[in-house]
Amino acid sequence: MGKIVVIGSSNTDMVVTAPKIPVPGETILGNEFNIIAGGKGANQAVAAARAGGIVTFIAKVGDDDFGENAVAGYKADNINTDYIFIDPDRPSGIAIIIVEEGSGQNSIVVAGGANKSLSIDDIKSAEKLISESDVVLIQLEIPLEVVEFSLKLAKKYGVKTILNPAPAQPLSEEILSLVDIITPNESEMQILTGLNPENDGDVEKAAAKLLEKVNETVLVTLGSKGVYFISKSGENGFVPTIKVEAVDTTAAGDVFNGYLAAAIADGESYLEAISISNKAATISVTRKGAQPSIPKINELIKKR
Ligand code: RIB
Repeated sequence: MGKIVVIGSSNTDMVVTAPKIPVPGETILGNEFNIIAGGKGANQAVAAARAGGIVTFIAKVGDDDFGENAVAGYKADNINTDYIFIDPDRPSGIAIIIVEEGSGQNSIVVAGGANKSLSIDDIKSAEKLISESDVVLIQLEIPLEVVEFSLKLAKKYGVKTILNPAPAQPLSEEILSLVDIITPNESEMQILTGLNPENDGDVEKAAAKLLEKVNETVLVTLGSKGVYFISKSGENGFVPTIKVEAVDTTAAGDVFNGYLAAAIADGESYLEAISISNKAATISVTRKGAQPSIPKINELIKKR
């Protein structure tokens, strides 16, 4: 089993289901309300652990019930929480999520709280652990200088780096040059390359453009369509997903990334890693919420 270090956000999601996502200035009546464990970093750590990886999650939470419950949840998933720090001054991160009934599409606003104070010193304290890992997986809900430092530290020890560039934001050439595998969705791809992958032929063009800036592989997640990947090794292809009735797409990308990190840490080929990660993400959209929707590896094997 591979060793994965996930560095990222821990949030508590406040989720309301509604017949549609309101437009600015509009008030609508929703239906269910639930408080659910989330955060891109945390969801990816849980996914990697449920995929069978040996996972350490490096994060920061507030000194409050949300933080305490979140850490208890990670422990229940056998995640090493020794590097989850507590900020005495800021609350734990939260996300307000509206899930559209029928389509399962969502709209999310994050109040980062303690995630924003994860520091370079916090990461330095985990240097030995990072140096001994197979894969470091990071997203963009923590300060960008911490993302850059973490990638640098991983590369210093030859550890494989995966960056899920979400939520979308422009990234410097310096940061991209520290990334082995990058996993943008369509909108992130557009911000990183200026090309819209929804236009015919532009997924390949945009991926090839981004490939020049990273070390190894670009893997574009195209929602329910599947995943396109291209690697400097010469491999490339499109891996479709199975069509399902989506009830909640929250964290589908995180499930994909967590499973991908576990598969890569185990030395799987891209095709195998993408195919297993697609299956896990597909199962997750048929279930409600972020972390509760993440399947365990044995649920995927049963479906083979
Ligand atoms: O990717 C889904 C996640 O984004 C949610 O769980 C929410 O907390 C935000 O971080």
